[in-house]
Amino acid sequence: MLSYQHIYHAGNFADVQKHAILVQLLKAMKLKNPKMTVIDTHAGRGVYNLESEEALKTMEFEHGGRHFFDHGTLPPGLKEIVAGMNPDGELKTWPGSAKIAREMLRPGDKLVCTELHPGEFGELQKTFDGVPNTELLKTDGFQALVDMVPPPERKGLVIIDPSYEMKTEYDLLAKQLYQAWKKWPHGTFMIWYPILEARGYQRMLTALRNSRVKDVMVSEIRLDGPPSATYRMSGTGVAIINPPWPEAALDQLTQYLANRMPIKAFGDVFWLDNMQIDPDTGTI
Ligand SMILES: C[S@@+](CC[C@H](N)C(=O)[O-])C[C@H]1O[C@@H](n2cnc3c(N)ncnc32)[C@H](O)[C@@H]1O
Repeated sequence: MLSYQHIYHAGNFADVQKHAILVQLLKAMKLKNPKMTVIDTHAGRGVYNLESEEALKTMEFEHGGRHFFDHGTLPPGLKEIVAGMNPDGELKTWPGSAKIAREMLRPGDKLVCTELHPGEFGELQKTFDGVPNTELLKTDGFQALVDMVPPPERKGLVIIDPSYEMKTEYDLLAKQLYQAWKKWPHGTFMIWYPILEARGYQRMLTALRNSRVKDVMVSEIRLDGPPSATYRMSGTGVAIINPPWPEAALDQLTQYLANRMPIKAFGDVFWLDNMQIDPDTGTI
């Protein structure tokens, strides 16, 4: 069952965090690697029309992308990409992870996108029609995560941004990630997760913490206050395996974003390897 469509959530505060980190990752990785591949396992449609019926139904972008755009506070890199797509100064379009990656990659760098939803895949094809060095596959991203690594040059990034439509995806993700890491222990992997009261993300992080996967840096932005109609998530998290920069770089970006949210929010950056397992709950 695939009913999730990211257009309802595009440009929300989680997208701002996820996409700002993606930009910072790609900037650093390009400096280190003359050639690289980006694999986006849950690519979505690449570009999101914020004037669409779906986006306007939830208006989630209002308290995320639009707030940062209108205040001129989108972090450098993301700011220029978003501005380029909205030349008249009003936020009408939001770039997805695949679009951001392709915008930042060099012509010789490869982008591989997998997307399972037929409608989203059709839109993705329209977004990247004729774009060189860009491969689109209508296939399962969790399987691609294992099958497609390492890329031939052994340099690059895997973006894993599931919809978590089924609760089992948290466990599946941890399992597949471990298999992928065994094949490519020096690869960089970026995983987005929602911070929700059901705490599925904690199971995923705990499984990762208990596995042999090392060097996992985490950025979280938590909102002050209970979930509401405006903010249905309590926060947003991104875990990065083998990050290309020290903790301070991610901390600076996380605090910058948390401090500029429309409501009070707290930013936190930590190494997953240092987290203790709570004996009562069995999770971190
Ligand atoms: C959160 S959205 C991705 C948003 C996108 N990464 C971005 O930042 O613009 C998750 C996407 O995963 C797709 N999806 C769900 N299950 C999938 C699977 N097993 N394999 C590949 N794609 C899947 C959904 O159709 C949806 O487009």
